[in-house]
Amino acid sequence: MKANELRKKYIDFFVSKGHKEISGKSLIPENDPTVLFTTAGMHPLVPYLMGEPHPAGVRLTDVQKCIRTQDIESVGDPTHNTFFEMLGNWSLGDYFKDDALKMSYEFLTSPDYLGLDVNTLSVTVFAGDEDAPADDEAYEIWKGLGIPEERIYRLPKEDNWWGPAGATGPCGPDSEMFIDTGKEACGSDCRPGCSCGKYFEIWNDVFMQYNKKEDGTFELMDRKCVDTGMGIGRTIAMLQGKTSVYDTELFTPLLDKIGELTGKKYGDNEEEDNSFRIIADHAKASTMIMGDPQGVKPSNLGQGYILRRLIRRAVRHGKKLGIEGAFLGKLSEIVIEMYRDIYTELKGNRDLIMSEFSIEEAQFNSTLKKGEHEFEKLLPNLLKNPKKIIPGRMAFKLYDTYGFPFELTEELASEHGMTVDRDGFEEAFKKHQELSKKGSEQAFKGGLADDSVMSTRYHTATHLLHEALKTVLGDHVAQKGSNINSDRLRFDFSHPEKMTDDEIQKVEKMVNKAIEDKLAISMKTMTVEEAKEIGARALFSGKYDEKVKVYFIGDFSIEVCGGPHVNNTEELGTFKIKKEQSSSRGVRRIKAVLR
Ligand code: ALA
Repeated sequence: MKANELRKKYIDFFVSKGHKEISGKSLIPENDPTVLFTTAGMHPLVPYLMGEPHPAGVRLTDVQKCIRTQDIESVGDPTHNTFFEMLGNWSLGDYFKDDALKMSYEFLTSPDYLGLDVNTLSVTVFAGDEDAPADDEAYEIWKGLGIPEERIYRLPKEDNWWGPAGATGPCGPDSEMFIDTGKEACGSDCRPGCSCGKYFEIWNDVFMQYNKKEDGTFELMDRKCVDTGMGIGRTIAMLQGKTSVYDTELFTPLLDKIGELTGKKYGDNEEEDNSFRIIADHAKASTMIMGDPQGVKPSNLGQGYILRRLIRRAVRHGKKLGIEGAFLGKLSEIVIEMYRDIYTELKGNRDLIMSEFSIEEAQFNSTLKKGEHEFEKLLPNLLKNPKKIIPGRMAFKLYDTYGFPFELTEELASEHGMTVDRDGFEEAFKKHQELSKKGSEQAFKGGLADDSVMSTRYHTATHLLHEALKTVLGDHVAQKGSNINSDRLRFDFSHPEKMTDDEIQKVEKMVNKAIEDKLAISMKTMTVEEAKEIGARALFSGKYDEKVKVYFIGDFSIEVCGGPHVNNTEELGTFKIKKEQSSSRGVRRIKAVLR
């Protein structure tokens, strides 16, 4: 079964079970300060999991593109991709465990759908701990469906618990479904979740039945939700009898092209194969990030920085395979072709993607040269070291500051009769990772879809700002990102140059006028088509008949948005732009506060 057939079957199945198909959203989360990218299908649905009514109803299904970068270093193994697509079905306070697991089971085993042999399935349920009891209910449901008890595993929180997305909020046990590849167990404790490759996770059903409170305790909720995620790449790999996500039509054209560019063959040499996979994965993820409706460009900030790292890592592995000069554009063409009918925005962004790849690749090549130069400068000192060992922290500095790969430092070192302290490098690297992990955990704790009064005010102010920018600067202004917390709003938008003081003042004045005018805010639910007709602002990537919420701020602004908003602009106070700066090429960033 090919990826496109799986997409269709999944959506058809859940539509036949009373779900409404909704369109997937951007890779760049909207109004969400806690993560850089959409990391799971549930991400854009968080407000609805938390209680906002969804305009399309209480049973939803969709395909969501996702980017996960926390395990960027493990990309290249058979199961991890930076970019992937997740099929999902949701119950927003409607059905719960029983129906969710029964539907999962039917989709997996029915000959009309995936037709998997039940003997190849293994499942996991939450084992229970001091916070919440074991999920005996899920256990019994699986048993009742015919999964033998020895293949129902009870696992702890680190395996079988999802959320909350922020520090508090809906969360709960989950149940994961695995295909047993038939490979020999690696040991007596080999079980689903083991990294040896015997078990391949394809689907996760999350049961959001608890609310995590500020004091860290969990209370049962009345309104329970289901969030599920089935990875397309993994599932088709299994259905096609492959042991790696790289062996399907979603990757082989890229691996073939890399072979053509290098004169090497994928499958000949494990270390080189790893570079093949990293290049293919990163070329695809970078293309998707730049080609998104809210696409970003490489930069030293946020999403742009992740993108930069992906491109640089791909270039580095290209060098390992002997590629000189720019090559990512050639792979990107294949990605665009592969997904042209699914993510139609890619084609429209093609020229931009190509030019960004070539600029970034050229820049990185010159960075590498600079790194080499830096190395030469350090050399006389290094040579004084009687042991002829380059300290790890120095190699890490070259890596961190100049993107200078460890292997290159090693190579240069050996040309001068020296070695590099790898352990020291790894230690410095780990320390750095821990620090940045802490940083991102802190960011994560900002409170997802924070619906505090202040954040809600900033959300409404963001709509006013968006409208004012369009009026003052022109219609080319398009939202490129929005990030709100209870202290400020941040808004990224396309505009080719720095705003003048006069323009900034005009925008501020216009927003403050809308506040003084005490404009009432109202919301209507309508189809994407109708929203378009009345001139609502939105990234219109959705299906025409899909229902969306449209917020009206007096007759000042009409925007498609999930909410929430204040009732009247008089609640906002005084609007002040604190900063106007560059975010990336052609994109400006405003930070503003309400006083
Ligand atoms: N949110 C769950 C996951 O991504 C379904 O695994």
